[in-house]
This record gives sequence, structure tokens and C-alpha cells, in this order.
Amino acid sequence: MSLLSVLNIICAAMLHVSNGALNTHYCVPRKTVLYQNEFKLFREDGISNYSTMLMRDDLGLLLLGAREAVYALDIHNISVKKAAVYWRVTEEKQRECTYKGKQAEVECRNYIRTLHKVNDTTMYVCGTNAFSPTCDYITFIDGELRLQAKLEEGKGKCPFDPYQRYSSLMVENDLYSATSLNFLGSEPVVLRSSNLALRTEFKSSWLSEPNFVFMDLVKEGFESSTGDDDKVYLFFSENAMEYDFYSKVVVSRVARVCKGDMGGQRTLQRKWTSFLKARLDCSLPEPSLPPIVLKHEDWRENVFYAVFTPQSGLSQASAVCAYSISAIRDIFNEGKFKTPVAVETSHVKWVMHTGDVPVPRPGACIDNVARNLGMNRSLDLPDKTLQFIRDRPLMDDAVRPLTGRPLLVKQGPLLTRIVVDSVLALDGKRYAVMFIGTENGYIQKAVNYAGEMFIIEEIQLHESPMPINILRLSSPMGQLYAGSEFSAVQIPVSNCSRYHTCVNCVLARDPYCAWVFSTGQCSSVYNLAPVSNAAVQSLTEGDTSRCPSQGPVAALNLTLVLGNNIQLPCQLLSNLAQVRWRFSDRSLLSDQKYYIYSGGLLILRASESDAGVYSCDSVEEIKGRMYNQTVAVYRLQLHSGTETGVSSTPGNEATNSSISAHTAAPGLQDLNVTSEDPLSPETLNETVSVTGLEVAVALLSLICLCLLAVLLFHWNQRRWKCLKCVPPLQSQNDIADKEHTCEYMHIPNRSSEVKMLGSDKPYTANNNHTAVDFKRNGEQHFTPRPHISSVGGLGYINDESEI
Ligand SMILES: *[C@@H]1O[C@H](CO)[C@@H](O)[C@H](O)[C@H]1NC(C)=O
Ligand SMILES: *[C@@H]1O[C@H](CO)[C@@H](O)[C@H](O)[C@H]1NC(C)=O
Ligand SMILES: *[C@@H]1O[C@H](CO)[C@@H](O)[C@H](O)[C@H]1NC(C)=O
Ligand SMILES: *[C@@H]1O[C@H](CO)[C@@H](O)[C@H](O)[C@H]1NC(C)=O
Ligand SMILES: *[C@@H]1O[C@H](CO)[C@@H](O)[C@H](O)[C@H]1NC(C)=O
Ligand SMILES: *[C@@H]1O[C@H](CO)[C@@H](O)[C@H](O)[C@H]1NC(C)=O
Ligand SMILES: *[C@@H]1O[C@H](CO)[C@@H](O)[C@H](O)[C@H]1NC(C)=O
Ligand SMILES: *[C@@H]1O[C@H](CO)[C@@H](O)[C@H](O)[C@H]1NC(C)=O
Ligand SMILES: *[C@@H]1O[C@H](CO)[C@@H](O)[C@H](O)[C@H]1NC(C)=O
Ligand SMILES: *[C@@H]1O[C@H](CO)[C@@H](O)[C@H](O)[C@H]1NC(C)=O
Repeated sequence: MSLLSVLNIICAAMLHVSNGALNTHYCVPRKTVLYQNEFKLFREDGISNYSTMLMRDDLGLLLLGAREAVYALDIHNISVKKAAVYWRVTEEKQRECTYKGKQAEVECRNYIRTLHKVNDTTMYVCGTNAFSPTCDYITFIDGELRLQAKLEEGKGKCPFDPYQRYSSLMVENDLYSATSLNFLGSEPVVLRSSNLALRTEFKSSWLSEPNFVFMDLVKEGFESSTGDDDKVYLFFSENAMEYDFYSKVVVSRVARVCKGDMGGQRTLQRKWTSFLKARLDCSLPEPSLPPIVLKHEDWRENVFYAVFTPQSGLSQASAVCAYSISAIRDIFNEGKFKTPVAVETSHVKWVMHTGDVPVPRPGACIDNVARNLGMNRSLDLPDKTLQFIRDRPLMDDAVRPLTGRPLLVKQGPLLTRIVVDSVLALDGKRYAVMFIGTENGYIQKAVNYAGEMFIIEEIQLHESPMPINILRLSSPMGQLYAGSEFSAVQIPVSNCSRYHTCVNCVLARDPYCAWVFSTGQCSSVYNLAPVSNAAVQSLTEGDTSRCPSQGPVAALNLTLVLGNNIQLPCQLLSNLAQVRWRFSDRSLLSDQKYYIYSGGLLILRASESDAGVYSCDSVEEIKGRMYNQTVAVYRLQLHSGTETGVSSTPGNEATNSSISAHTAAPGLQDLNVTSEDPLSPETLNETVSVTGLEVAVALLSLICLCLLAVLLFHWNQRRWKCLKCVPPLQSQNDIADKEHTCEYMHIPNRSSEVKMLGSDKPYTANNNHTAVDFKRNGEQHFTPRPHISSVGGLGYINDESEI
């Protein structure tokens, strides 16, 4: 027992230290919402891979593409199927496909990959069709979906391989697609299918084993003073040509083409004359992305958000970076080009082009400059300009993220999809709320408040972990739609009623929610007048001072049975909070007497001296301020003899704990655990599942030792760096000088396993401060991190992402 005592002292000390040090939490969602049956869900037996979506707000429909099926679902409740149409592969096609060595039941099926609006009643749809991509028109008339059987060749519009990433976009009935032209997937192409079809050159300097991710139109031509054209932006990753590495290096790219491009006359005939690409920098993990564009009425305000995931299994960190359209534009319009130079034998090195650049500028859209030179179409461009761009599509500079660094870095399950909503909060400002899907079926809801990453909540969409393959947002309806292998799920962007008290409503820092004084409820801000005094919300500060004071928590009387183990449940309302137990105004720590676990407090072998009042406080730190809320109070009263009793869950927001409730007796209550069975697995199902006290304590000590070891290891190794993890209690200036280390630590019932430690290693930042106007939320100053080039590869994500 003496050894155990020593271990316990270490353990207690460790918990104390780690509670302080691990207190920083920006990688951890504040609230975890576990799977609920109430989520609106759609699935049909025998159909899987729900991975393509088209929002038709105009028709009140969500069109959902799956394997061999397209559904028209009620946009208000996707459980309501309005219509369906099935597009199965023919036996012949399937046979041909299997002859080519593909699996009949997996690859040789028809995966719907492209769904675009053509006009009010008609959609364009493409499927992989057993490695023989095919397109068709589909109509929704009189409540029925119908395929028009005008089968069209889908090569270049839709991938052959259902596992290959692709992207497509419909612009004025011209289909822009980025996929592969052949069965092997070795001929990547960016194609415009129109009367004047255009494509990329088959040159590795244009596209080298790309993974296409996303495309969108930016209407830069609208009322342009320079007579500029609209452009299609494309995001992808590919093998880098600009690095001298022995192994392949994958980089993230943005490319663009001009809508009015008609190709060249002699050079680049039927090819893009405006294909330019640049590297995307995210200053952190190895990368790439399914980005989403956050549109503004003024295209200059557009921001692309991209998720970067590691290509290797080594790192488990994903990141979100945002790029302003103007930063991308500046590089394409004014940046230097890279040019190939032959070194030594056959080796080519890409360096900055320092020589003259022909006029009109290579890769530029036809604008007033070109028109003044008498060139009204790309067909009129001189060979010099075209030859230049044919050989040098890559820009020298990389595009830097909006804030100079990632908006979010998250350890644990990889991020797969992102959508962003722009929310008008009570303070009259707009906030960008990110909804990020993960590979284990969660949605992370996050906001960046003046450089501070805050994950409001994580919502578990599926009972069993499965990757979110597609995510769509209907901002006017306030709904999110997520598709996975076995179902599609719809959830509201917020559910303020989850927060029952003013303090919790405010501490949630959810731009969608505010506490309304008159109703005493946490409600959606949609119905509130901006800058209203009738409600309180404090997004950047988490300031609860305007909340009405709450009365004391009523104590629950329990009977103390001598020699028993007594369990006092206490469920914290926030993952960021620390639990503090008080007994007669003395604070308790886990030791031989007490075991504090995530669901409450266990008093081992109760004695007479244990009678008294126990309080469970939830202590949460927000922006350097401590918030201390008492969640539960128990009064243990001595009672002779054993009786039946109950341990109920007190507290206004307490959820069911793992406690087994016995028959309820009003008033005085006790617990019915015999001393022979001190820690029955039924009542204690945490990290320790035990047959005896000693075992429990020993295990606990072992866990602590392990934790200690892990902590020490990481203190030395500093392997997990978490750029956006900013410890509280420090000013921005301090932050710039510190590097912080993320730590793995198991937190039960939570998908994320990240906590972080502050470290003292000085940081060698040498960049100037950058003032960033992030979505017009006002001036925010960020200290950029030193430039770490983002090289790496695309996480495996298998469909397009678009808004
Ligand atoms: C959605 O539709 C399903 C199926 O008709 C129904 O059972 C469910 O109650 C509906 N949900 C709501 C919130 O209307
Ligand atoms: C919609 O487009 C389809 C295909 O181009 C065409 O056949 C149909 O007439 C159009 N319908 C309307 C209402 O414009
Ligand atoms: C489709 O779903 C099945 C499981 O039902 C899975 O095995 C397969 O990998 C999925 N296919 C694609 C292309 O995602
Ligand atoms: C370009 O357009 C202008 C006016 O539209 C016209 O006057 C001029 O002849 C055109 N030039 C060429 C080369 O087509
Ligand atoms: C919001 O949350 C409450 C409490 O968890 C739940 O009862 C309700 O069904 C939720 N509402 C929606 C629309 O999901
Ligand atoms: C929380 O508040 C209670 C009552 O105001 C106080 O007794 C307790 O010490 C506080 N706990 C912490 C950790 O500040
Ligand atoms: C509580 O204990 C009493 C006597 O020790 C026993 O008769 C009763 O069955 C127990 N109740 C439960 C729910 O275990
Ligand atoms: C607690 O559990 C009971 C039965 O298991 C259930 O009816 C009740 O809704 C649960 N309460 C909460 C707050 O989860
Ligand atoms: C709990 O016990 C205290 C003092 O023993 C008493 O004043 C109070 O009324 C009891 N509360 C309940 C709910 O029975
Ligand atoms: C306790 O945990 C085990 C495995 O972790 C599980 O099988 C069992 O159902 C749990 N028991 C209770 C009462 O929750």
C-alpha cells in the first residue's frame, strides 16, 4: 500500500499540474452533441454512397445522388422523399468492366457524380457507369423525376473511377469539368464542354497526377473598369515540379481560366490560353483541400476556405486556411512566372523568370489593354504570348492564407469537408462560421474570433464512425446536409435550446444564439433586431456580466451508508471546463479517499467524517477570465442501517450519467452498494472497471504514470505543434513569442483527443505584423508565423465540393 500511496501522490500532483497546463483548449470543441435519433435522416435499403448533392431552393428540393439513384428530397425534411429515379448499369456494361479487371459490385456500378441545374425543370447528371462515364438530362415535372435517356458521352465530364476525385461546374449551360479522360486515369484534363470546347495541354507542367477538388466562378467581369472577364477558379493538388526532391512531393494549387477564352489560332488551338496556376500555402501540415467559396455580393470580398489534410499517415493534424480572391488575383495578374531551365543532363529546374514578359501579358483574359491592341478574342493573341504561357503556366509566388496562418489546426480524426456560413450577430457584425465534416462522422462548428480559434461544438451525425463525403449548407433555411456511405443527414445550423441558462448561452459564443431576457431562453438571433438590448450575446469576449444572477443550486440530500462507496454524479456542461469538488469548503483531489472522474465523484468506503455538503463546480476559462458555476450540490447525511435509495441527476442541465438509478424515495435518499462489491461495473464504468479497491487505485496510478510519461516525452519531443492553440491568460504579443505543443490525451466520450501544453521555446518570427480585414469584421491584427512551405498531398476524398 505504501507504493500505491506514493503513486497516488504523484498522480494527484500530475493531475494538478496537467489540469493547469492542459487547460488550454482551443483544439477541443466546447460542447459535444452525441448522435440523436431526432436527426432528420434519409436512406434507402440497398442504396449506398450518398455523395452528390444539388440544392434547388427554388423547387424546395435537395437532389441527392447516390449509387445508381437520384432522389428529390424535401429540403425542409430530407426524410420526406418526393421522387426517385434509378439509373442502374446494364449487365453488359458491368461485364465489360469486370473483364477490365474491376470489381463488379464495387467499381462496376453507376456512381452519380455530377448534378447541375440546366433550367427550372431540368438537371444535367453524369455517372461513372461501370468505368464508362455517361451523362443524361433529368427532369422534375409534376412531382416526378425522369431520366431523358439522351445518353451523352461522359468522358472528361465525369471520372471513370468512382474513387477518383473530380470537380465540375455549370456556367450558363457550359460544363466545366476537371477529371480524367481515360480509363487508366492517366490523362488529367480541365475541360469546357460547349460549342467551343477547350481543354488543357497534355503536359506535366500543366497537370501532373492531379487530384481535383473544387471549382467555382468568380464574376470579375461585372462592371469591371479594366474590361476584365469572369473567371473559373480550380483547386487541386498535384506533384510539384518546382522542388528538387528525390521523392515525389505533392503540393496544393489554385488555377484559373477565363470564361471568354476561345483558345489560340495556331498555338494552343482548342486549348486554354488563360490557364495559370499557383501554389497554395497553408503554413502547416502537409496539405490539400476541398475548399468552399464564401460569396459576397462584391466578388472582391470572396474568400475561399480550404481544408488541408496530411498525405502521409505520419501526421494526424488537419488545418483550415482561407484565401482572399484578391491575393490570388494579385499573383496571377502581377506576379512573376516560373520558367524551366535545363541543368546538367536531362534534369530541369524551375526558377523565377527574370527576362521580358510579352504583351499582352501571358495568361491574362482579354481586357481593355488587349482590345486597345486590336485583340478582341483569345484567337487574336500573338504566338509569342501563347508560347510563353504554354511553357510557363506556373506562377513563382505562392498564395498566402488570409491571416498569414491557418484559421484552425485540429489533431485527431481528419477533416474531410467544409462549408461556411456568414452570420449576422447581435453586435451587427458578420461572422464566418465554419462547419467541418470529419472522417469519423462528426461536424465541427468553429469560428475564428480575432485570431482565436473556437470550436463551438461538435455534433455526431452517425452512430458508427463514417466519413462525411459531402456537406452542403442552405443559409436561408439554416440547415446543413451531410452525405455519407449509408445515409444523408440534415441538421439545423444551430440549436440554441441546448443552452438552458444565460451563462451557458453566452459562454457558448455561438453567433446564432443569444439569451433573451423576456423569455428567459437561449434563442436564435434571426428573430432579434440587431444591437438589441432585449438579449445578450458576447462572442469575442464571452462576457456573462449582463446575465441575471442565478440562485444557489438546491442541495440534494443523500444518506451516507457507512463503509459504502458513494457516487455523486456531476456532468459538466463544457468540455473546456475543469471540475472542482468542494467538501465543507475544502477542495478535493483524487486520492485514496476520492476518485474524481468525468461523470462525478466517488467517495470510497464512506465513514462518519464524510457527512457534509459536497459541491461540484465547473470552472471554465474564457479569454483569461475564470467562470465558476456550481453544477451540483449534495448533502450527505448519516443514517444507521442500509436502505434502498436513489442517486438521481441534479442540476438543470445535467444529462443522464452512467449511474444506475434505483427505486426513488422522496426526501432522504441513499445508495445501495454493499461493501463487498465496492465498485460494481454497473455503477463505475470509466477508465477503471474493478473488482476491488486496490485494483482501482493501482490502475489509476498506472494511468497517471503513463500520462506522466507521455507528457514528459512530448515535452522533450515537441512533436505535435498546434499553431492555433493559443493559451489563455496571454496577450497576443506573448503568443507571438511562444510555440505551443499539442498533446494527446484520452478524453472519454469525445472524438477529439487533443489538449495542449504551453511551452517556453522562443519563437523565431521575423515577419511584420499584418492587418487583416477578415470578412469586414473590423481590423484584426495577426502575427504571421514564419513561412513554412506547405508541401504534401491530398487526403483521400472522393467527390467534388461546391456550394
Ligand atoms: C420528417 O419526415 C419524417 C418522415 O415523414 C417524419 O417521420 C418526421 O416526423 C418529420 N420530421 C419533422 C421534424 O417534421
Ligand atoms: C430545359 O432544358 C432542356 C435541355 O436543354 C430543354 O430540352 C427544355 O426545353 C428546357 N426547358 C425549359 C422550360 O426551358
Ligand atoms: C460505396 O459504399 C460501399 C459500402 O456500401 C463502400 O464499400 C465503397 O467503397 C463505396 N464506394 C465509393 C466509391 O465510395
Ligand atoms: C475589335 O472590336 C472592335 C469594336 O468592337 C472593332 O472595331 C475591331 O475591328 C475589332 N478588331 C478585330 C481584330 O476584330
Ligand atoms: C434541439 O435540442 C433539443 C434538446 O437537446 C432537442 O430536444 C430538439 O429536438 C433539438 N431541436 C432540433 C431542431 O434538433
Ligand atoms: C467557485 O465558487 C464557489 C462559491 O462561490 C467557491 O466556494 C469556490 O471556491 C469557487 N471555486 C473556484 C475553483 O474558484
Ligand atoms: C438494496 O439493498 C437491500 C438490502 O441490502 C436489498 O434487499 C435490495 O434488493 C437492494 N436493492 C437494489 C436495487 O439492489
Ligand atoms: C435519462 O434516461 C431516461 C431513461 O433511460 C430517459 O427517459 C431520459 O430522457 C434521459 N434524460 C436525459 C436528460 O437524457
Ligand atoms: C435536506 O436536508 C436539510 C437538512 O437536513 C433540510 O433542511 C432540507 O429540507 C432537506 N431537503 C430535502 C429536499 O429534503
Ligand atoms: C461498461 O463498459 C463495457 C465495455 O467498456 C460495456 O460492455 C458495458 O456495457 C458497460 N456497462 C455499463 C453498465 O454501461
